Amino acid sequence: MGVLERTDHRQTDFSKGANADWTIPQGFECYSEAEHRTWTMLYERQADILPGRACDAFLHGLDALDLHGHGIPDFRQLNEKLLALTGWRIVAVPGLVPDAVFFEHLANRRFPAGNFIRGANELDYLEEPDVFHDVFGHVPMLTDPVFADYMQAYGKGGLRALSLGSLANLARLYWYTVEFGLLETSQGLRIYGAGIVSSRTESIFALTSDSPNRLGFDLERVMRTLYRIDDFQQVYFVIPSLQYLLDVTTGTDFGPLYAKLSRMPGIPIAAIEPSDRIVTRGTQDYARSGGRMRQGAAVP
Ligand code: PHE
Ligand code: FE
Repeated sequence: MGVLERTDHRQTDFSKGANADWTIPQGFECYSEAEHRTWTMLYERQADILPGRACDAFLHGLDALDLHGHGIPDFRQLNEKLLALTGWRIVAVPGLVPDAVFFEHLANRRFPAGNFIRGANELDYLEEPDVFHDVFGHVPMLTDPVFADYMQAYGKGGLRALSLGSLANLARLYWYTVEFGLLETSQGLRIYGAGIVSSRTESIFALTSDSPNRLGFDLERVMRTLYRIDDFQQVYFVIPSLQYLLDVTTGTDFGPLYAKLSRMPGIPIAAIEPSDRIVTRGTQDYARSGGRMRQGAAVP
């Protein structure tokens, strides 16, 4: 799913055939009928609710890649289309990969995607990113030239952050943009984050629940904000455009910023700061009641 999970350095068994860059063959021929059906089920649930909720770049990407509801896509075919559009390609990995490997791939316009798919009994939540999250969630945005550049710049920034020991700050940026970002449009808020767009329940929650805070994106603010990986987010950050996100991140030297942030405390997830631009102030009722997403309860 993202950087945070990738910072825990869960190791994969190289004897399973991973290369030094952790890539493996997708093994397209090895998926069972049941696994293809799981993709199709997930796809149909999302295709149904995303128009009017996901941003145009995402929806155009789904179309352009011809990502369909007929089973898990073959990366070889997907890559022909993706390469032609923005020069990105998908590489298969067995699951989480070490940070440096992940960043190195991004910096070279390669997106590492888990090749396995979740079980039919865990459609709604998973802690390790599978092929549905990685391909359906992330890859459509990579067809957008601006977002494609942002992801590459992020990979380069990741390698730099690693060498500066500032990964925690940079990981928050990934979390609140690539995974859980919202975009302001003339038609209202839209989703571009992969963690939202690949989850039926959070696609609804993130846009319509009264519970979470929705705040204007501010680079420093985001890089200071803690996050949770176990349930719906308690705060979403709203960008004015993808171009703004690219410009503000590539136009800022993170070196001095990391130094400054290292002297400042992290901001708790539900906090509202005096300088925040509040898009919607949340009740936090969902989080306060203990969160029930994992039990599959209806979205509030
Ligand atoms: N500008 C950042 C740096 O100086 C790199 C970066 C770009 C990070 C885009 C994230 C996204 O390190
Ligand atoms: Fe992800």
